[in-house]
Amino acid sequence: MTSPGRFIVLEGGEGAGKSTHAHAVQAWLESKGRQTQLTREPGGSPLAEAIRGVVLGDWHEGIDPTTEALLIFAARAAHVRATIRPALQAGTDVICDRFVDASYAYQGAGRGLSKDWLAELESHVLGDLKPDLVILLDVDPQLGMQRAKARGDLNRFDTEALAFMHRVRAAYLQRALADPKRYAVIDGSEPKDVVSQSIIRVLEQRL
Ligand code: TMP
Repeated sequence: MTSPGRFIVLEGGEGAGKSTHAHAVQAWLESKGRQTQLTREPGGSPLAEAIRGVVLGDWHEGIDPTTEALLIFAARAAHVRATIRPALQAGTDVICDRFVDASYAYQGAGRGLSKDWLAELESHVLGDLKPDLVILLDVDPQLGMQRAKARGDLNRFDTEALAFMHRVRAAYLQRALADPKRYAVIDGSEPKDVVSQSIIRVLEQRL
C-alpha cells in the first residue's frame, strides 16, 4: 500500500551541517522501507536549479532584497510543482535541504523584508503545503561561518557579516519556538555522530 509521503525539511544557518544530515535522514527512512526523494532549495528541479544559479551569482549591479526574494519564491513555485507535490502524492517521503523558513530567516530577518509580504508570497506559492517536520540545526554563527569557510565553496550568503547570521539564527529559533510540534531544534555544534543520533531520535518519536 502506498501511504502519503511525509515532508521533512532541514534548516539552519551556514555551516550547520544540513546537507550531511539530510543524507542521514534519507538513510534512516529507507531503512524503514520508505521511498525517498532528497532535494534542496533554492533548486530541486531543472528550472529551479537554473534560478539558483542566478540567485547565488555575483552580479556586478548587485541583487536587491526584493529581487532576491522573488527569485527564491519563483524557484520554490517550480520546485513544488515539478518535484515536491508529485513525490508526496506518489507516497514518497521528501527530504528538503532548506525550504520556506529560510526565506523568513534570510530575506525577512537577514535582509529586513516584511514578514507579511513573505507570508503573502508563501500563501500564493504554497497554498496549504507545509512540512510535517522541520529539523533546525542550530549553531553559533561564528562556528558556522568557520565551517563554511573551511568547506571552501563560499556563496554570497556565506560572506555576509556575522550580525546578519545572528539575525538569521534568531529568526529560525523564534519560528521553531512558536510551533514546537512541527519543529525540532538540535544543537548542530555537537560532533557529527551525536547530531545524527539526535536526529534519529527525533525521527523515531515524530514520524
Ligand atoms: P545552501 O547554502 O543551503 O545551499 O543555500 C544557498 C543559500 O540560499 C543559503 O546561503 C541561504 C540562501 N537561501 C535564502 O536566502 N532564502 C531561501 O529561502 C533559501 C531556500 C535559501
